Amino acid sequence: MPPRLVLAQVRNFLQLGHRTRRMSSKPSVYVTRPDVDDSGLELLRKSCQVSTWHETFPVPRSELIREVAGKDALYCALTDKVDKEVLDAAGPQLKCVATISVGYDHIDVEECRKRGIRVGFTPDVLTDATAELTLALLLATNRRLFEANRQVYNGGWKSWAPMWMCGQGLKGSRVGLLGFGRIGQEIAARIVPFKPAEITYTTRTARPEEAAAVNARHVDFDEMIRNSDFIVVCCALTPQTKEIFNASAFQKMKSNCIFINTARGGVVDQKALHDALTTKQIQAAGLDVTTPEPLPLDDPLLKLDNVVILPHIGSADIETRKEMSRITARNIIAGLADKKMEAEVSL
Ligand code: DGY
Repeated sequence: MPPRLVLAQVRNFLQLGHRTRRMSSKPSVYVTRPDVDDSGLELLRKSCQVSTWHETFPVPRSELIREVAGKDALYCALTDKVDKEVLDAAGPQLKCVATISVGYDHIDVEECRKRGIRVGFTPDVLTDATAELTLALLLATNRRLFEANRQVYNGGWKSWAPMWMCGQGLKGSRVGLLGFGRIGQEIAARIVPFKPAEITYTTRTARPEEAAAVNARHVDFDEMIRNSDFIVVCCALTPQTKEIFNASAFQKMKSNCIFINTARGGVVDQKALHDALTTKQIQAAGLDVTTPEPLPLDDPLLKLDNVVILPHIGSADIETRKEMSRITARNIIAGLADKKMEAEVSL
């Protein structure tokens, strides 16, 4: 076990009694990931009594429920479902929950609102990293990089061949985005230099100023999915977007369509996606997010050559993740002090 995890365990052990008898006047925080960058934890330790889960896999739910009891704040990640049961287990003193992610679909924000619990998140800081990864995934999918790379190792590379391992370029293509927030806009800006024929985007409300910067056109969902050669999903997972990409949506897409999702696995009916890929209703898919995560090794999607799957690494850029750790800590410190958080979900 790495020394810092041993230390975390020792620290937790020393804090064992604190649920029942407060030994310190400092507010208490439970951190579900000991492997967030230390700089965030250091910030927290200056003003809070911090206990952490001690393994690098997500805290088991029973442990979370036990450990959150009596805490003033919860520092969590997208791997933790923070619902009514967890909030009940925490108790009425819980003041804030902060997640080290921009997405907060794993937190029952309505339940937090009812209880006056403030919720922090980490938008903005990860926008560039996520947009960059989205482009990398798009290019790996349309130019078949992983499939081609496998040929090098499995003997499939016999010689250069005129039409072998050809893909579909972005130049002259129609790119449709579902979602046009910070990340969507940065994805669009990175696509522009590849000279697409058109970028369209689908959102509830048009964003003409932001769209003008990348010459994008606002269209409804139906038009976007019917006309796009590339569909890029960069929206939040909400009741409205849950499984919005279902069998009927895939049936409307062009047969050369390349589907990219770096948002949340939940926006896709994965069985319908698998059917669309195997029946060639669409050309290929690049997924940084799936349901569930991790995807089981026997998942049928893993058997397809026309799918590139990454393990949810959209924001996994070193400096980005370090800053996410610090923002989450600063959100908690502000929340505990009844001050404005750096990034707070409006409830
Ligand atoms: C997020 O922040 O929501 C991303 O999915 C992971 O960093």
